Amino acid sequence: AFMKEVSGFSVLEQHVKDKLQLNHVIVVPGNSDEHDWVKQELGKACIHYLKTILQMKQTIAVTGGTSMAAVAEMMTPFNGATNCMFVPARGGLGERVENQANTICVEMAKKAHGEYRLLYVPDPISEESYQSIIEEPSIKEVLEIIRDADVVIHGIGDAVTMAKRRKASKDVLNKIVDGNAVSEAFGYYFNESGEVIHKVRTVGIQLEDLYKTDCVIAVAGGKSKAKAINSYFKQGKSNVLITDESAAQELIREF
Ligand code: BG6
Repeated sequence: AFMKEVSGFSVLEQHVKDKLQLNHVIVVPGNSDEHDWVKQELGKACIHYLKTILQMKQTIAVTGGTSMAAVAEMMTPFNGATNCMFVPARGGLGERVENQANTICVEMAKKAHGEYRLLYVPDPISEESYQSIIEEPSIKEVLEIIRDADVVIHGIGDAVTMAKRRKASKDVLNKIVDGNAVSEAFGYYFNESGEVIHKVRTVGIQLEDLYKTDCVIAVAGGKSKAKAINSYFKQGKSNVLITDESAAQELIREF
């Protein structure tokens, strides 16, 4: 039944793929702004896709957020791809525990029967502590694993929504609003043309690192996120998008 639903959106998928110039797009039915089960469908579609590309002993770096939490919720054991390792893509970004990358990592690893390594860094982090933390042997080791990840999976959010959810300071919020940031991913805030307006300082994957990762999968749905998705892909550093019908239709109509 799942494959049937997916193929039902093949025209829409092709449109989005052409528009954003991606390698692969998957559209699931519904609007995740309105129903939580749509997020679970995004999660299922992501796991399904992951299983088609993953090989033995590969490393998967994941971000936080509710869409990624839905991916973790839907995770099932990998049959062919044994000994996989899950790591958080970046250090703390100010999310609540259930939405943090570390939490999501552990759940995914347990359900997939894989391994995990976590990052324990305070957030926000000062320039001074940043420099000393990245020299800590235990952190350094995990950072190397992260930067070598074979697959990165992340969410995309609306800029102001994310800044508020992370309780950003007034200064940061002003910077985001004044800079007309519309999207956020990995702690980077982008304007409509995909320029970086603000970046949360933390360890782990930096935007430049995504160029050398073969497979970067974005999981984001809901009509309200169409603008953010469009803005994020102006940078074009992810090559796969898993989204829903409402976001896809809005993307084609409006942008
Ligand atoms: C996280 C990303 O994975 O998801 C954020 O690190 C992104 O950059 C966020 O904005 C979106 O969250 P949600 O809850 O809308 O999936």
